[in-house]
Amino acid sequence: MSLLEIENQLKAFESEAIEAFQSVSDLKELENLRQKYLGKKGTLKTFQKGMGQLDQSERPKLGQLTNGVQERLENALTRRKDDLFEEELLARLEGEKIDVTLPGSCTGIGHIHPLSQITEEIIQIFYSMGFTVADGPEIETDYYNFDALNTPDNHPARDEQDTFYTNVGPKVLLRSQTSTVQIRVMEDKKPPLRIISPGRVYRNEEINARKYPLFHQVEGLLIDKDVSFGQLKGTLTAFIQALFQKPVKTRFRPDFFPFTEPSAELDSQCLFCMGAGCRTCGNRGWLELLGCGMVDPNVLQGVGIDPEEWSGFAFGMGVERLAMLKYGINDIRYFFNNDMRFLKQF
Ligand code: DAH
Repeated sequence: MSLLEIENQLKAFESEAIEAFQSVSDLKELENLRQKYLGKKGTLKTFQKGMGQLDQSERPKLGQLTNGVQERLENALTRRKDDLFEEELLARLEGEKIDVTLPGSCTGIGHIHPLSQITEEIIQIFYSMGFTVADGPEIETDYYNFDALNTPDNHPARDEQDTFYTNVGPKVLLRSQTSTVQIRVMEDKKPPLRIISPGRVYRNEEINARKYPLFHQVEGLLIDKDVSFGQLKGTLTAFIQALFQKPVKTRFRPDFFPFTEPSAELDSQCLFCMGAGCRTCGNRGWLELLGCGMVDPNVLQGVGIDPEEWSGFAFGMGVERLAMLKYGINDIRYFFNNDMRFLKQF
C-alpha cells in the first residue's frame, strides 16, 4: 500500500472516529469507542504497525500523520467527554431537583398545657407580691408529709389524705400535699420567708369528675414578725381577684388543718353568678377555693423557729380546681386524657 493510500485511509478513519464520538450519548459508550479506535488493539495502532511495510524514508512521514490523527482524536474525545459529563450532570440535577416552594410537611406547634398556664399565672401574681418559688420532692418521707406538719401517727387528719406508700422504705410515700415544702424551706432558710411551691401531689382516690389520684397544688408560706390574719385575708383576696380578673368578695369559714391555728377555708363570691346563686355554687352564692391559716407554733418550734419572735400564715390550693373555675371545665379528667379537642382550646 502506498503512503498516499494510507494517508487517505487515515483521513477516512479520522472522520469516522470523530463522527462516532459525536453519536454516542453516554460516557460508557464513549469509552468503548476510545478503546476501539485509540486503544492498545485499536485501529490507530494497526496503522502504526503497518509502518513496517513502508519504505524507510516514508516512515517518519507516516509517523507524523498518525501522531497528528492521534492528537486530534484525543482532543475530540476529551471535548466530547466534557460535554457528555456536563449533560449527564445536568440531567441528574434536573431529575433530583427539589421544589423549595412546595409547602413542607411539618408537625404542628404545640402549646402550654392549661394546668401549666394557670400555674404560671399563679406564680406571676405571687411573684408580684414578693413571693419566690420553692421546690420539693414528690417522693417524701412521712416526716415531711405529716409529722413535721403537726400530724403525728394515728392523727385522724392522716386519714383524710388517702396516701400512697411506697416499698422504697416503710415511711416513704408519694406526697399527698405540697405543705411538705413549708418544712423543707423553714429547715433550710432563716425567716423572714415568702415562698410558694407549685407541684404534683398524689392521693389514692377513685377517679371521677372531681377527683384524680394525681393532681397539683400550690402551697404558700409567709413568715415574718407580727403577721396578722388580716394580712392573710388581704393577700389571698388580692390573689383571687387578680387570677379571676373580677372584684369578687371573699370570706373565711372556720376549718381545721393540723399545721395552722386558727385554720380557715377561703370562699369567694361565686364567679359565675357573683353571689346571686346558680348551679355551680349550688345556690349558695359562694365557692370554696382553698385552705389556709396561721402557722401553728408547734410547726415553727419543730423547725427551730422561735414562735415568740416569728409568726406567719400558710395556704394551699388545688390547681385543677382553680383551673376548672377559671376556664369553666366540669370534669377534672379532661386535664389528663390528652384529648386534642380539649387541649386545643387553650
Ligand atoms: N395541704 C392542705 C391540703 O392538702 C391545704 C392547706 C391548708 C395548705 C391550709 C396550707 C394551709 O398551707 O395552711 O388539704
